[in-house]
Amino acid sequence: MTSLFESQDAAAEPVECLGQTFPSDQARREHYLKLLAEKLKDPEFRKQEGFPQGTDEAILAMSDPPYYTACPNPWLAEFVEHYGKPYDPQQTYSREPLAIDVSVGKTDAIYRAHSYHTKVPHLAIVPSILHYTQPGDIVLDGFAGSGMTGVAAQWCGTAPASYRHEIEMAWKQEGRKAPQWGARRVVLNDLSPAATFIGANYNIPFDVDAFAKAGKQLLKEVEQEIGWMYETLHSDGKTKGRIEYTVWSEVFSCPECAGEVNFLDEALDTESKRVRESFPCPHCNVGLTKKKLERLYINTLDKVTGETLSTPKRVPSLIAYRIGKTKYEKKPDAADLALQQRIDALPLHENVPVVAFPFADMWEAPRMRDKGITHTHHMFLPRSAQAMGALWEKALAHPSPRIRSFLLFMVEQAIWTATLLNRYRPTGYSQVNQYLAGVYYVASQHSECSPWYILDGKLDRLTKTFRPVKLASNVAVTTGSAAQLPLSDDSVDYIFTDPPFGENLPYAELNFIVEAWHGVTTQAKLDAIVDRAKENRAAQKSVEDYRKLMADCFSEYFRVLKPGRWMTVVFSNTQAAVWNGLQTAMQQAGFVVANVSALDKKQGSFKAVTTAVAVKQDLVISAYKPNGGLEQRFAQRGATPESAWDFVQTHLKQLPVVKMRNGELEFVAERDPRILFDRMVAWFVRHSAPVPFSSQEFQDGLRSRFPDRDGMVFLGLREVVWVDSPDFTAPVACK
Ligand SMILES: C[S@@+](CC[C@H](N)C(=O)[O-])C[C@H]1O[C@@H](n2cnc3c(N)ncnc32)[C@H](O)[C@@H]1O
Repeated sequence: MTSLFESQDAAAEPVECLGQTFPSDQARREHYLKLLAEKLKDPEFRKQEGFPQGTDEAILAMSDPPYYTACPNPWLAEFVEHYGKPYDPQQTYSREPLAIDVSVGKTDAIYRAHSYHTKVPHLAIVPSILHYTQPGDIVLDGFAGSGMTGVAAQWCGTAPASYRHEIEMAWKQEGRKAPQWGARRVVLNDLSPAATFIGANYNIPFDVDAFAKAGKQLLKEVEQEIGWMYETLHSDGKTKGRIEYTVWSEVFSCPECAGEVNFLDEALDTESKRVRESFPCPHCNVGLTKKKLERLYINTLDKVTGETLSTPKRVPSLIAYRIGKTKYEKKPDAADLALQQRIDALPLHENVPVVAFPFADMWEAPRMRDKGITHTHHMFLPRSAQAMGALWEKALAHPSPRIRSFLLFMVEQAIWTATLLNRYRPTGYSQVNQYLAGVYYVASQHSECSPWYILDGKLDRLTKTFRPVKLASNVAVTTGSAAQLPLSDDSVDYIFTDPPFGENLPYAELNFIVEAWHGVTTQAKLDAIVDRAKENRAAQKSVEDYRKLMADCFSEYFRVLKPGRWMTVVFSNTQAAVWNGLQTAMQQAGFVVANVSALDKKQGSFKAVTTAVAVKQDLVISAYKPNGGLEQRFAQRGATPESAWDFVQTHLKQLPVVKMRNGELEFVAERDPRILFDRMVAWFVRHSAPVPFSSQEFQDGLRSRFPDRDGMVFLGLREVVWVDSPDFTAPVACK
């Protein structure tokens, strides 16, 4: 592998980065890593909000500065200043709010290249970036997760001709101008280092062929080292089979005779591959169901921590193996059990993290304790721990930092499948990724998959997927809180963001298992979630705490966005309180909501959401930052009726004049007088100013000032040719 690295270096070309030219990309990386290492020694630097937990070495090992740091990125503001355009109040900019279908693109290979909780596909984001920005603009996503906003921004420059044609035709039909193709620069932030590591690897260029070669080599070396752990003897007594997965079953006790019952052996119908509802006890023949059984526990000594653990008794129950291309199944025999004993006796692989789960702060603590899991290494059976340790060790040993990072991007995708969380699905096409998403749930039957069964196909797919993708260094990824972005005021052209959904997912907790392998974990206290279930009461977060955390993040968004520019927020939650909390947070920060749409998945169309009711759909919220003119005038005039009419006048300019669906004019809900009243009230509340009139007075005033058509309010009947006046230096040019 060293030769591969040397050949890359020999072919190295000078690279430009933040205005400096380096003889090679490796020289660029070394230069910035040295600077980052110095920064990390500064206690003030580490005091930043959302700084992850990890040693300097672990943070440096994940990072590829200045494009990616697994901590707040010290070069972020410079990146934006260098590649972006400064805010120019004289520049005219006008867009109408745009709703997007966030379910588009979920089968796309790039989207599926690495999983993450509640991913928004890049193909759903692309139309939005094309609509609100121009090539070279700076796009920001502060809750970037796996970095799909970055992939979308790059796609605007690399999309194939067929895709461009499709979008151009669709826009033409809607009477819109053709989009301006060309990559946008993007800033991605997330609190979780696991997330930013995925985002960085998705977006920073790498040599796909070198990765393909290194990936094959890695899997081959792991096979040479631990292949013996996955051998089994075929029924002919001489041919060696290669184990794909072993199914482990928990052992229960019969309530009638107290005999041991291997659940899978008794309940699985091997013909139909279905688990039977009821089955007889193998000892006393009494009718049993899963509910009637009592789980058996055994005490085991953890040789690493010295702890005695009470864990469910588990036995290997079924082995799925292959000889050549033919698949077989067998019950484990004496040789298989002897092999297992040999593996059990090995010391834990030194690359497997031994980290106590922060149970006091976790929702899943009771469930995990019940299964005898207190530390990260307890998540793996001994053979899987050896396999994951070997994969990680070999990926880490690759001499080229960029290839090493992408190898880890591949290897870390085996972690969840390799844990006890991976359930046995007898009817599943594959046993890979068979864990329940969003929880640490350990089922009674576990499929323990071999590393090649998990990763052979993944390696091929990654290679095929990324080979045609032309990535450029258009991205800067940072790890920290969205409430403290190291960016200058008024520097970003557009924000696309998919914030945490209140009580739905504890991201820090779920990312912990992967982050432990990297040695850098999320600063969980800033995870913007509603969190009631923790044992540590001080760490609980109410809906109000969530609203406050989100308000801080939206205030930061407001600070860094250029005046007059837009933010798209996608959001999905079933609780009205969380949805209201989010809306309030956004408005308190200063954003004016111009449109809220819910996607009707059956019809593929959008419906305006006009009331703060409980929602069960994906919402797309379009909000803008008013320009300085409106703010200044408000400061001068205070809480007067003039300020209210100024707000309405400015806001109307941001709303769509017409909306067409199936060739018919559609009602523009945001032009409804009641919604305009709500928006105006929110604007006054945000300025802590009393609202100058009642709803009725507002409606009367509105009627006398603005024309009304079919229940919608307009600036003037000739709104389309409305001209900016010195009195109303609104943020956008006239429509
Ligand atoms: C809904 S997910 C975003 C998923 C993303 N759209 C994707 O496609 O992968 C929300 C993200 O917000 C992050 N997060 C939670 N609290 C945060 C905070 N205070 N600052 C920044 N990120 C935060 C979580 O780690 C999580 O990755």
